[in-house]
Amino acid sequence: METLILKVGDPYKDDISQACKILKNGGLVAFPTETVYGLGALAFMPGAVRKIFAVKGRPADNPLIVHVSSLEQFEEVCYVDERYWPVIKKITPGPVTFVFRKRPHVPNEVTGGLNTVGVRFPAHPIAQRLALCAGPIAAPSANLSGKPSPTTFESVYEDLNGKIECIIDGGESAFGIESTIVDLTGETPLVLRPGPITIEELEELFGKVNVFNPEETSRPLSPGMKYRHYAPDKPLKLVNSEELANFANTDILVLCTEESKEKFLKNARNVLTIGSLKRPYTIAQNLYKSLRYVDKSPYSSAVIEKLPEYGIFFSIMNRIKKAVRGEKK
Ligand code: TXA
Ligand code: MG
Repeated sequence: METLILKVGDPYKDDISQACKILKNGGLVAFPTETVYGLGALAFMPGAVRKIFAVKGRPADNPLIVHVSSLEQFEEVCYVDERYWPVIKKITPGPVTFVFRKRPHVPNEVTGGLNTVGVRFPAHPIAQRLALCAGPIAAPSANLSGKPSPTTFESVYEDLNGKIECIIDGGESAFGIESTIVDLTGETPLVLRPGPITIEELEELFGKVNVFNPEETSRPLSPGMKYRHYAPDKPLKLVNSEELANFANTDILVLCTEESKEKFLKNARNVLTIGSLKRPYTIAQNLYKSLRYVDKSPYSSAVIEKLPEYGIFFSIMNRIKKAVRGEKK
């Protein structure tokens, strides 16, 4: 299949009507969002949604997030618990997904048969304009299943060129890790996946929140959690910063902060810095690019520096731990 590449200079103004038409005809479009790139089909076209699973190699019981362009569209997809409107209005559009009871017309293909649905009102103008012109868009991250989510056009191209109708090139994603997922179907908000909106920020907004911990329960609440994610094919290990010096000039690639390179690996060649501890959001933005580089690099394996676990670092460490666990396939 020939994939149409749409390069976007001005995300507010450039013509994306071709992408919109492709969606309406049941085709797949990869598009930029402020978190990671998404692979979209119209949520109300079950046949198109099924193609997403085929292209990605994604298990059919792993539900998709529905992307909307307004709070009106948000309500068309799910039953919003009235208590939560003030908070939703405060943090959307933005890098967060809410799980609510689904409306009956949302296809089972989207929700993996669940009676809930994940809904996201993204801040990225391209994502918004697509959902405005074509309708709610079901979209997982635009990577092949098991690979790190794509945060650049090049990563999407690598995985999906020739397999889908269109890729919109909107440059690098601002946040670089997937949206925070909050399940609002219970008594207390439950964070299923930490992300750009931090636990601390959610506590400020909601009061108390619970954070899902896969080690403490056998129930996979977010079906995606049971699948291997974000991991390079080569072995990847987590190490404390003080141990990094041991890896200087070996055939193991070291992914570490600028501070640790300066301190422990000053003249080493086998280092890829993932950003400065002083700018943690830049580390989030660089993470998946760096994990993808592990497999492309000449090194046999890699180690990655252990980071703190508060604020946005907690979300970054969540992804790093999954990548490291992926080592034992
Ligand atoms: O930032 C993001 O959320 C990106 C962009 C494209 O919006 N999307 C994304 O989608 O990361 P995906 O499919 O890679 O991850 C969605 C996660 C999966 O772990 C899935 O199991 C979970 O959301 N999920 C979707 N619907 C759910 C539901 N009804 N209940 C619980 N978890 C759900
Ligand atoms: Mg994904």
